Amino acid sequence: MIDIKRKIQKHLPWFIKHGTTRIVFLIGPYALKVPNVFRWKCFLRGLLGNMDERLWFKNSPADWKLKMAPSYLCLFGGFVLIAGRAEPIDLEDYQELDIQSFHPLPMDKKLMNFGRYDSRIVLVDYADSRQFCSGCEQIFKCKKVVDLK
Ligand SMILES: Nc1ncnc2c1ncn2[C@@H]1O[C@H](COP(=O)(O)OP(=O)(O)O)[C@@H](O)[C@H]1O
Ligand SMILES: [Mg+2]
Repeated sequence: MIDIKRKIQKHLPWFIKHGTTRIVFLIGPYALKVPNVFRWKCFLRGLLGNMDERLWFKNSPADWKLKMAPSYLCLFGGFVLIAGRAEPIDLEDYQELDIQSFHPLPMDKKLMNFGRYDSRIVLVDYADSRQFCSGCEQIFKCKKVVDLK
């Protein structure tokens, strides 16, 4: 059943997906991510998630960016994030995935948080609420280490 849904999603020009903290409108080549308005705490986390995702994408070195669906623009303090639309992956793709290779990006390693973008497997959700505060500082530290190499 889940597989059928994934296949349908691939072929529809628009589709709506629900995460815990965000609702995602898949429209053509874009994913518009808005905070989940149905629960206050989720809404707040959704705002932070949208802001953080853009921050991570903007500040990451090129090789990290290849592991993320692109986050192009974060509008209105996190109310809308415009990202590149990735295709859903299936269980086989997921089982072959080297999850460690996504380190140090923030990640909740569920299948639904990965997608295929430009024929690569990428994270579509890299806003892990456990890292809302520390993650931002960490990214700049890690970036410096990468730049110095
Ligand atoms: N860039 C994207 N391209 C395609 N699908 C996406 C994208 N971002 C999110 N999704 C879909 O929307 C779902 C919810 O988005 P997600 O970012 O995981 O929200 P949450 O932070 O609430 O978990 C994801 O599980 C995924 O299926
Ligand atoms: Mg998610």
